[in-house]
Amino acid sequence: MLTVEERHEIEEELKRYPDRHAVTIDALKIVQRRRGWVTDEALRDVADFLGVSAHDLDGVATFYNLIYRQPVGRHVILVCDSVSCWIRRYDRIREALGTRLGIGFGETTSDGRFTMLPIVCLGACDHAPVLMIDQDLHRDVTPDGVEEILAKYD
Ligand code: FES
Repeated sequence: MLTVEERHEIEEELKRYPDRHAVTIDALKIVQRRRGWVTDEALRDVADFLGVSAHDLDGVATFYNLIYRQPVGRHVILVCDSVSCWIRRYDRIREALGTRLGIGFGETTSDGRFTMLPIVCLGACDHAPVLMIDQDLHRDVTPDGVEEILAKYD
């Protein structure tokens, strides 16, 4: 069941759009922000609240790679693997993160602190390689700088 706060936030979004379908991603983000990820039950609750098909909503959630349909760590590291970052050796950043955290793409540290995922271009190609942790964009990342970045997140 959606909480009062979640319903209120979604209703605020609904005021901004004439079509309830236009709110689907925002509604999922609201639930995810409060719960960490979107369970099947939460997805059905959002679909019921918006009056849209749960099947269609699941399709949206699956297509949009910033909606998590499985549990994730307290912090999600999104490592850009698109062309500019690929040219600027994003693989060295991924390896440094993997060595430091003991995880690869799609995995979560045993203490639940970090999940690491690949992502398409984060829109900061002139500062490649780039990664994002939660809402923070980190540019011009170097393998040696990974430790300092991770230290900012409990
Ligand atoms: S290719 Fe990585 S930010 Fe654009």
